[in-house]
Amino acid sequence: MSDWVTVCSVAELPPGTHHVVDVDGAQVAVFNLEGRYYAIENVCTHDGGILTGGPIEGDQIVCPRHGARFCIKTGEALTPPAFESTATFPVRIENGEIQVRDERWD
Ligand code: FES
Repeated sequence: MSDWVTVCSVAELPPGTHHVVDVDGAQVAVFNLEGRYYAIENVCTHDGGILTGGPIEGDQIVCPRHGARFCIKTGEALTPPAFESTATFPVRIENGEIQVRDERWD
């Protein structure tokens, strides 16, 4: 089982913000969308672009390289040129801290 990795405190991630953390070598972007937390791999499945830095519109993030849209809640690729989902990760709150875990290889 992989360990939970602390992202930041709840106070440091207010609604409408995000934070990127390294989890066992994977870049994970954690978002606060209206008080709920979601974590996706910060990598576009089209050509490996970093997703953060692109615009966030509702529950979607737009890849800054070629404009593919991903659902932050599900990781689903919503528009070309990306067709494969990006990974999602479980998020939990522990003692006021936001934590994520990469359980893909467990
Ligand atoms: S790398 Fe994201 S759309 Fe091309």
